[in-house]
This record gives sequence, structure tokens and C-alpha cells, in this order.
Amino acid sequence: MKIVVLAGGRSSERNVSLSSSAKVANALRSKGHQVAMVDLFLGINLDYIRDVEDLFTDQQQDVDLDISDEVLTADDINALRSDGSTQLFGPNVLDVVSKADIVYIGLHGEDGENGKVQAVLDLNNIPYTGSGPLASGIAMDKGISKQVMMYNNIKTARFITVYKDNPKYDVPFDFPVVVKPSNGGSSIGTRIVQSQSEMADAVQDGFRFDSEVLVEEFVKGREFSLGVVNGTAMPAIEISVNDGWYDFQHKFQSDTAAKFQTPPDIPEEVHDEMKAIALKTFRVLKMANYGRIDFLWNDSGLYVIEANSLPGMTPLSLLPQEAEAAGISYEDLCNSIVMGKVKALGLNFA
Ligand SMILES: Nc1ncnc2c1ncn2[C@@H]1O[C@H](COP(=O)(O)OP(=O)(O)O)[C@@H](O)[C@H]1O
Ligand SMILES: [Mg+2]
Repeated sequence: MKIVVLAGGRSSERNVSLSSSAKVANALRSKGHQVAMVDLFLGINLDYIRDVEDLFTDQQQDVDLDISDEVLTADDINALRSDGSTQLFGPNVLDVVSKADIVYIGLHGEDGENGKVQAVLDLNNIPYTGSGPLASGIAMDKGISKQVMMYNNIKTARFITVYKDNPKYDVPFDFPVVVKPSNGGSSIGTRIVQSQSEMADAVQDGFRFDSEVLVEEFVKGREFSLGVVNGTAMPAIEISVNDGWYDFQHKFQSDTAAKFQTPPDIPEEVHDEMKAIALKTFRVLKMANYGRIDFLWNDSGLYVIEANSLPGMTPLSLLPQEAEAAGISYEDLCNSIVMGKVKALGLNFA
């Protein structure tokens, strides 16, 4: 099959996306697919390319997996384009993706997760992996997705929303609380706040990434994550950090990496319940193909932290490790995401 892995984009998680997408592209090539990786925002200069078809290859490409911990701002990213233009779809991107049988969405953060790219692909009749525009938008917005969960009796930490244009609030919970941008990811802009005196700073910091910031009750407990692939819950993975919490450094920098254990050392009935809640969350948020639901567990039970419609696919990421525990290699996981979507859409390729 011909696959475009769509990567990069304009979000603060651009670097994470480029790194994981290069791995995904090679994994799909190893399965015999003809794959081209395309940077959504920078696009492709076709002046020096004889034929667009030449971009697709089943040969392994060099991968640079070092992820910068630099948090990119919109200005940093806009500066990457030499002509000063800022539209999301870079030069020739639509031309190239329309040559593919299916697009693997390798984006992270805002651009790919909020569903807008999926909507553009839908409008152009281009099939793609993962969830559609509505589910992506819901899952990306932590405030909205928590409301949908609460309505469906899925336990999640209580929260209030603080709006940038009217930033008045009282914290109705005991400290510590968690302050996070409603639309965000990779723990960027998220802080655990110990006292009222730190609140103003934390909320302001959150506003750098979104105009709505959530203040959540801090749930003390063990942290788990559980992937769903083509309707099946993977074994959960436990995340533990020696120092602090599961922040950006622990997520992406190998020298401070969190410890993972999958399958987790928990009672079977808790694991089964976590799987059932993950599948239910996946369904009520209208997610499709694959995704990941994150949990906290303590004496009061299981809390959903958030749903990820585009879970990380770097070597340190959770879903690939869970799949491994289920006997599914990284290459097989990437392939089953693509093939699962192809099957769900009833696509037929020679
Ligand atoms: N309500 C909470 N109570 C305790 N820890 C939390 C809570 N919300 C988030 N966290 C911690 O912060 C991390 C990042 O928060 P999350 O909502 O998953 O945002 P992101 O989209 O950035 O991953 C979680 O993995 C967890 O360790
Ligand atoms: Mg998270």
C-alpha cells in the first residue's frame, strides 16, 4: 500500500511528532508498504523531484531520534518557513497526500489532535488512521472530554475552568491542585500547585498554551495507561517516577525516564475494570481505530486522567510497550493500526 506519514505541523509538540513519525514510517516500510513522510507545515519542495511517486519508498530511512526539550512557540515555528506564510498545510502537502492510499496521522498536539487536519482530509476524500474530527476535537479539549465522561459516569478528577478573557476563580478543592491548559499535551504548561500563592503564576503559564486552563483536584494514586487498538484493550502499563511527577522530562528525555511496568502488578479485577472503562471512554468520546486512556488508581477507585486520540509512538512511548507485552511488535502495531482502519473503511487495494 502507499502511505503518507503526516508529521510535524505547527504545534508545540512538533519535534515529538517528527521523531516518532520517522520510526512509524520505517516500521510500515518493513511491512512492505511504500511510505513517504511529509512535514505538514513545511511541506515539500517539488522543484527538484522528478515525480511525486519517487517520494514513496519501502527502503529504510535514517532516523534521528533525539527529541529537543525546547518548547516551541508559534513564532519559533512560523520562522521555520522562509516565505513568511503561516497556513497550516505547507506547499504541495495536499498534492502528495492525495497520492496515498491512506494517511498515517503522525502529528502530535494541537494540529493533529484537534481534528482539523482530519476534517480537511475528509473533505478531500483521503482516508487516514485514528479518530475523526469530532472525536479528535473532543479528546483534545480536556474540559469537554471530562464533561462527556462525567455525564457517562466515568470517574475523573473534579475540575473548574479558568478563562483567559475573564480569569476570576476560586479554587474549590484542597491543595495541591493540577493546573493545565485545556488543549495541550506532553505535560507542557501543566503544573502541580501546592498553595494559593503559586496559583496566579501557574494559571498565567497555562494561558501561554491555551485560552482555557483547568484547575483539577489532585488525585494521589498510582498512574496507568491503557491503549485500545481496533476494539481491543491492550494490557495496561504502570508509570512510576522517582522524583516528582510524569512531566515532559520524564516523558521524553531518556536520562530522567519514568519506569514502566506492563502488565502492571495489580489485581486482575482492577486490570479488567480499567480495560472496561478504557473501552467505554473510547466509545463515549467517539474515538476510532486506536487511542490511549490514562488512569490514576487509589482506594476510591479508578479515575480517567485523559483520553489521547493520537498517543505517542516514540520508542519510549506507552502504547508500543503495552503492545509488546501483548506479543505485538512495534512494526506489527503500526501495521495493524493502518490495516484496522483500511478494514473498518472497507477499502480495497490491489
Ligand atoms: N488530577 C490529577 N491528579 C494527579 N495527577 C495528575 C492529574 N492530572 C494530571 N496529572 C499528572 O499530570 C500528567 C499530565 O497530565 P495530562 O492531563 O495527562 O496532560 P497531558 O495531555 O499533557 O499529558 C499526568 O500524566 C499525571 O501524571
Ligand atoms: Mg497525559
